[in-house]
Amino acid sequence: MSLPGTAKVPFGGDYNPEQWPQDVWNQDYRLFDAARIDTVTLGVFDWALTQPAEDRYDFALLDRIVDRARAEGRQICLATGTGAHPPWLARAYPEVTRTDFEGRRHRFGQRHNSCPSSPVFRRLSTELARRVARRYGGNPELVAWHVGNEYGGACYCDLCAAGFRAWLRRRYGSLEALNTAWYTTFWSHTFTHWDQIEAPSALTEHWRGPDHTAFQGITLDYLRFMSDAMLANFLDEKAAIRQSSPDVPVTTNLMGMYKPIDYHRWAPHLDFVSWDNYPPDDTSAARMALTHDLMRGLKAGQPFWLMEQTPSVTASRDVNPLKRPGLMRLWSWQAVAHGADAVLFFQLRASRGACEKYHGAVIGHAGRSDTRVFREVATLGAELDRVGPATLGARTPARVALMFDWDSWWALEISDGPSRLVRYQQVVMAYHRALWAAGVDLDVVAVTADLTGYDVVVAPVLHMLKDDLPERLAAVATRGGTVLTTFLSGRVDTCDNAFLTDVPGPLGELMGVRVDEWDAREFDVVNPVRLECGKDGLDVESRLIFELVIPQGAEVLGRYQADFYAGTAAVTRNAYGEGHGWYVGAGLDQAGIDWVVWRILARHELFGPYPDVPELESAARIAPDGARLLFLLNHRAEQVEVTARADAVDLLTGDRIEAGGSLRLPERGVVVLREEH
Ligand code: GLA
Ligand code: ZN
Repeated sequence: MSLPGTAKVPFGGDYNPEQWPQDVWNQDYRLFDAARIDTVTLGVFDWALTQPAEDRYDFALLDRIVDRARAEGRQICLATGTGAHPPWLARAYPEVTRTDFEGRRHRFGQRHNSCPSSPVFRRLSTELARRVARRYGGNPELVAWHVGNEYGGACYCDLCAAGFRAWLRRRYGSLEALNTAWYTTFWSHTFTHWDQIEAPSALTEHWRGPDHTAFQGITLDYLRFMSDAMLANFLDEKAAIRQSSPDVPVTTNLMGMYKPIDYHRWAPHLDFVSWDNYPPDDTSAARMALTHDLMRGLKAGQPFWLMEQTPSVTASRDVNPLKRPGLMRLWSWQAVAHGADAVLFFQLRASRGACEKYHGAVIGHAGRSDTRVFREVATLGAELDRVGPATLGARTPARVALMFDWDSWWALEISDGPSRLVRYQQVVMAYHRALWAAGVDLDVVAVTADLTGYDVVVAPVLHMLKDDLPERLAAVATRGGTVLTTFLSGRVDTCDNAFLTDVPGPLGELMGVRVDEWDAREFDVVNPVRLECGKDGLDVESRLIFELVIPQGAEVLGRYQADFYAGTAAVTRNAYGEGHGWYVGAGLDQAGIDWVVWRILARHELFGPYPDVPELESAARIAPDGARLLFLLNHRAEQVEVTARADAVDLLTGDRIEAGGSLRLPERGVVVLREEH
């Protein structure tokens, strides 16, 4: 099963009428009409309402909410409501709350607060999902199921420790295999009984927080286990829904580059991906593009839903800046450009009380439609109406793959040495930025992805090498493609044990290098790198990590300029098969990364239409009827003018554009071109 079948991009978002009297509902729906809001996500935190006591379910209010949405002709995305458990549940079953990393058993409070291993949580959440599905599953307006909410966090209670042991038994079969995997001869850790195994926390293997562990293998397995334990909660509810609602797609709202959960392991179990986009600031255009591509990549390029974004401000940060005029629209179209088949907000009406009362909403406390935010939402609603089904189901024509791997992320950042300052996301984002600036269409893929369709594979800090990945990367180069990897790649196997070979382990042959030593320095220590290829040279800086690369056949294209390794290789390119393996051993600055990445793109002629116009983002999608859609997004605070590359129709205005004609984008402007051939 895949995406909900809709006639256009669903537009709307989280709606909590249970927080308001009925006359407010009337006002809301009048305003929804004005903004062309056609989709409401209902019941996300309704557990205490729908089950006021263990032996009592009460759907009276949710019935009215759903009936009203139906009567108003809205599409419904219905939540199971299990993202926060009710007080009576925590009171009756204290083990349902979580135990934190410090070992403190929490009492009732907050949300996303249930222990994933608690049998009572699993039983009651499943039962609630079953009842909700039975009651509402037959509604024709129901387009999607929303299970739980933003799964995440971790629990370290005894139930989770027991669950961990069971998970380990399944994974390793024997204590002998487990002891080998965890390298337990180190520091007298040989386990002779499964019950001796503890959850790795501040009370056991850790010091200075979750990233500092004595045993990487143990901590890594706990991260994997927690991700699986929460997935089991999702699957409990999904199975319960399926009993009475076989055809409505099921999702849960993911959080993009969210470290605690390996979304690649979750993806096969979601009917479609949806995610919540709350970028850290308003200079995050590239980061959001990367995250959208990551989310689209979870299910091999299938479009996803933008389940939440704020129309204006968030509330949870220390300082919550307002989205400038035009930004919400620009970012909404950016989501569509990268594969979103829905544009939804958190939230349609603002809460009166509690911690989100100042969180932005389409409708504020005063219920006005003559606000800037409402007007911008309504304008976007009208645009989405006009575009209709044109973008639905369209796929991204990517020839470039950027690898993203939760295991490598975890392993790198729980590693003692070489440097705590090398952060996985930052390195991936820097390589992505070079690709993004070049305007290439790219997929962000798992290490298990099929690589046969790509000309270029960029795999920064590929710390852990699993299964047949080295062979599949080599195959890309053999047939003429280019593979790039960096420092701290090819270091460990699935269990986080080093390879008993030269670094970069099984990538050595493809890269044509060997790394015997590495240096790590504070951020203020710079080693200049001279990049050179034929007549093309550039002097850049490198920081944080400096691998001493010894070519084993690779050509040297970048050399350190300082320290005792001045003159030695920092960047290399190896001819392999018909293609190349690039190895970047130094923490290059952005200019250096751009130089490397753009050389690779030039070899394969993979630039987007306007690589020379900074912050004019371009992204293509191919519609199911074969039409090519080109999205141009001007992230600048000033107008840009470019030349159209093909005859096209601007889907937002209906204007015809001729190849060679001028395209003017105002500040934060958007055009969506349907190209004609
Ligand atoms: C998350 C949650 C919502 C809401 C928003 C606020 O995405 O899913 O319930 O709390 O954050 O930004
Ligand atoms: Zn627990």
